[in-house]
Amino acid sequence: MPGPVSIRRYLDVNLTPERVNEIDAIFFESSNTKTFEDNAARAAFRERWLGRYLVHDPNFAFLAQAADGKVVGYLVGAIDDPAQAARFGDISYFAELAEQTKRYPAHLHVNVSPAFRNQGIGGRLMDRFVAAAKAAAAPGVHVVTSDGATNISFYNRNGFSEIARAGKSGRLVFLARSL
Ligand SMILES: CC(C)(COP(=O)(O)OP(=O)(O)OC[C@H]1O[C@@H](n2cnc3c(N)ncnc32)[C@H](O)[C@@H]1OP(=O)(O)O)[C@@H](O)C(=O)NCCC(=O)NCCS
Repeated sequence: MPGPVSIRRYLDVNLTPERVNEIDAIFFESSNTKTFEDNAARAAFRERWLGRYLVHDPNFAFLAQAADGKVVGYLVGAIDDPAQAARFGDISYFAELAEQTKRYPAHLHVNVSPAFRNQGIGGRLMDRFVAAAKAAAAPGVHVVTSDGATNISFYNRNGFSEIARAGKSGRLVFLARSL
């Protein structure tokens, strides 16, 4: 049995190369995109969905750590309206969802290592992010996922409901909750 898992602020964790590799491993394992044209494309993908949040919004990043220090899950996010913030201008669906992001500006990306799923860790990471976003006076939070994704039930259980659709044939689902 693994020991208890703690949720820590990213800024409070001693980020050894080992810890960074563990975060990256969870990111790539959890992503739907598995193959990249080259290393530059792989690095750009990491930057888009993980790296820039750690650099620009470290106050809103949390790590789940096992008793031996191993990172077994993470959550990154931001509270600025991503349809207005220049740094998210590369994500086209935010422009489409600008009416909704005004009301629910905070957003997040959460991933848990497969062996540690269904133990409440994702929910605990979410609670910490929600508390931090509320403390920073964000009025609402959203996530964008895909139609039929298994994570929709996780978000529903955490208080998110579908507010809008976007993308080609409405395949992107905008789920949100007030704070
Ligand atoms: C989505 C994800 C982050 C959820 O993380 P998690 O740690 O498994 O989340 P939780 O354990 O809090 O909740 C998952 C399920 O476990 C159940 N659960 C929660 N605590 C539990 C416990 N102590 N014992 C047993 N089951 C539990 C919940 O009922 C929940 O069920 P639901 O998904 O049907 O609502 C994780 O599954 C994951 O990384 N998935 C792949 C990547 C992904 O989809 N990320 C989101 C990108 S948009």
